[in-house]
Amino acid sequence: DPALAAAGETVFKKCKACHQVGEDAKNKTGPILNGIVGAPAGHVDGFKYSKAMQEAAEGGLVWSDAELTAFLAKPKSYMKGTKMSFAGLKKDEDIEAVIAYLKSFQ
Ligand code: HEM
Repeated sequence: DPALAAAGETVFKKCKACHQVGEDAKNKTGPILNGIVGAPAGHVDGFKYSKAMQEAAEGGLVWSDAELTAFLAKPKSYMKGTKMSFAGLKKDEDIEAVIAYLKSFQ
């Protein structure tokens, strides 16, 4: 949905301090998010994840829409020990929009 993805680009401003997407994206404080929707957690090359994320990855966590929605609402409650220092997105519509935006970088 292009309109939703466009709204998600605005929401993604909150993520940009730590994450990049697109052709020239690099790992920063957080990993590159190209292709993240539907991908296994903790698998971006060259990024050093927290122990919590490494364990979730070993446990088979995949970033489905549902898992991403739960993570982005409250990262620290969803995953104890994550080093993503972000309070979360309060509005369901913002979460839906940012996921649509991320899907445009598959
Ligand atoms: C991890 C999304 C905001 C820092 C992740 C992951 C996703 C994500 C999907 C998991 C990546 C993977 O498994 O490879 C987002 C979105 C944001 C956001 C959509 C905005 C709504 C932020 C902010 C920061 C940050 C603001 C820094 C203050 C990190 C870090 C990790 C991470 C350090 C690795 C976590 C760990 O290893 O425990 N983020 N993020 N993120 N993010 Fe974010």
